[in-house]
Order: sequence, then structure tokens, then C-alpha cells
Amino acid sequence: MESRDYQKSGGRKEEKQGEFAEKLLNWFGKSGRSLPWRGKKNAYYTWLSEIMLQQTRVEAVKGYFYRFIERFPDIASLALAKEEEVLKLWEGLGYYSRARNLHKGAKLIMEQYDGKMPSAYPEIRSIPGIGDYTAAAISSIVFSEKIPAVDGNLLRIFARCNSYGGDILSKEARVLAFQYFKERMDEKFPGDFNEALMDLGATVCVPKGKILCNSCPLSAFCTSSEEGKPENYPLKREKKARKKEQYSIFLIRQGEKIVLKKRPKKGVLAGLYGFYQLSGFLTKKEALEEVQKLGFIPLKLRELGKARHIFTHKEWEMIGYEVLCGEFPLCKELREEAELFTKEEIESELSIPSAFSYYKEFI
Ligand code: ADE
Repeated sequence: MESRDYQKSGGRKEEKQGEFAEKLLNWFGKSGRSLPWRGKKNAYYTWLSEIMLQQTRVEAVKGYFYRFIERFPDIASLALAKEEEVLKLWEGLGYYSRARNLHKGAKLIMEQYDGKMPSAYPEIRSIPGIGDYTAAAISSIVFSEKIPAVDGNLLRIFARCNSYGGDILSKEARVLAFQYFKERMDEKFPGDFNEALMDLGATVCVPKGKILCNSCPLSAFCTSSEEGKPENYPLKREKKARKKEQYSIFLIRQGEKIVLKKRPKKGVLAGLYGFYQLSGFLTKKEALEEVQKLGFIPLKLRELGKARHIFTHKEWEMIGYEVLCGEFPLCKELREEAELFTKEEIESELSIPSAFSYYKEFI
């Protein structure tokens, strides 16, 4: 990390609170991660990285971040892009509504803020896809506002420091964690303070595995570490079992082209291109009948095997069929929704969600 003189950062109300920030920031100076979007005070980079980092690990984000800023170096270039191209660059990151909102946000910033990210929290918060956490991260990192960015890391650190026995997913926990960190936050470097906590949560005060209290700059402020039981916090909630759904996936070929269908505007993988998909595990015979019903003449059918995709709250179990069809016009019903693409078009222009990765290999 680039080193800063954190000792001189002032504004301490009370020694213990000042010590909290000082210890944390000194640790960050030595052990914080060097990440491509850091240390630049660039609102676009911070916004983009924070959106990419939602639900996605830092290591997975780095490559996407570089590719994205190479193609869209600023808010103006992103605002001018076609949505399909933005989604293509997002392909594999998942949660595509993030990309759509980013694109919408860029257009809004061009129209309403002359292409510059507004600096006031309420305006940042009102941009599509930016919630409390992301607005706090941008405000603190770019505009040095003293606002804790309460994510899972901060909630976990809060719970361990205070042996908090409540549910960390509750509103109460969010409010308490916000107050706790705000009182201890550094006046001059609130962004570093937030990022230090994120790094501490990712490398020292980790959710699973060995918690490294011996290397933790906050151990003097941590009751659960003092009790020798940091792993007891946050309290574990019983996880709801993911709902399992079964589907048959069709890789329908007509000559050189493949049939894809834009998914509905609402629901899972909304508005993205996917394979034709029906509920349930169909047998080969049923699969042939369904393809016929769609208005194709199936000449040959091959089973492609089973695959699984895990979403946050559900799980898809899939069986795939490749169906070679004769040249034949699509029936009207399907023609309205399905489109035919070549392999090259799919690879260069479309983003097929990772849920279909296994079947995409057969294209
Ligand atoms: N996770 C989310 N935002 C982050 C950031 N700015 N640095 C490190 N990890 C993060």
C-alpha cells in the first residue's frame, strides 16, 4: 500500500477511539492490499469496482475491471455503449442487473450531472444500482465523507469486537455497526478506514477458517478475542435449503445456426440470451416431441448430460439435448421470441450466463 502519515490524522474525540483508527490505519498502511482501483480518488473506478465486488471475490474482479476500463475508460464512454456490449464485458461475473444499472447510471450522470459523479451522498445514493453500502464507499473513498460502508466484513468485525449476540442481518445490527464505526472513524482518511476494515475482514478477521487475532490491529478493542472465542460471532443462523428446480436445456441447431431465446424481463437472468429451456427432466422421446411442437423438424438428438448451477437462493439441475434440425421456418410462436445466431456471433456479441456454461461448451 502507498504509505500515508496516519499518526497525524486528527479530530480524535477521545483517546481510545483515536487509537482504534490509528492502529487500524497503520495496519492498513503495512498490510492493506494493493488493488487496481485503489489510491486514485477516481469516482468511476471506485463505483465500477464496488459494483463488481458485490457478490464477487476480489481476485475474480481484477481481470474484469481491467478489461472494462480499457473498453470504457470513463463514464461518458460507458454511457454511449450499447447494452449488449456492456453485458458482454460482464459475461461470467453474474448478477447482470448490476451491469444494466451501471449503464443506466452512466447515462443519468451524463444527463443530470454533466458526466461527473455527484459528490453529495443523497445524490450518489439516488443513482440506479447504488445502495447504502456503495454510496458510503464512494462518498468516503472519493469524497472523504465520514460514512461507514457497512458490508458483511464490517458487520462481522462489529459483532466480534462487541460479542454482539443479535442477528447481523437485522436492521438493528446495521444501525449499531454504523454508529460503532462512525464514532471511531478517522476524520482525514475515512475511505482508508473503510477499506482497511474490508481488508481486515478478508485477510485477518475472516468469516471461515483460522481467525488471525494475533495479527489483528483491533484485538485490544475486541471482547470476543479477549474471551478467546471470536469464532462464536457472528451468531450462526440456520440456512434455508436452496430450492431445487429441474430443467431440460435445448441446443437446437439449424444448419450453421443455433437457436437462442431472450429470457423474460423479470426473474432469474432477466433479459439475457439463453438456450431454449423447459421445466422438468424430459426423456429423449419427450424432448423430440417438444422440439417438434416448436415447429422444427428434428433429424437427430443427442443427450449432452447433466449440469448444475447454484444461484444464491435456488439451484438448477439441468439435462441438455442437442437437436439437429432440418431447414424449416420456425412456427410463429417461437419465431417471436427465438433468434438464430452463428457460433461467431454468440462468441463476439452475446453474453450467455454462466448457468449455461456446461452447454455453451457444445456450441
Ligand atoms: N470489497 C468491496 N469493496 C472493496 C474494496 N474497496 N476493497 C476491498 N474489498 C472490497
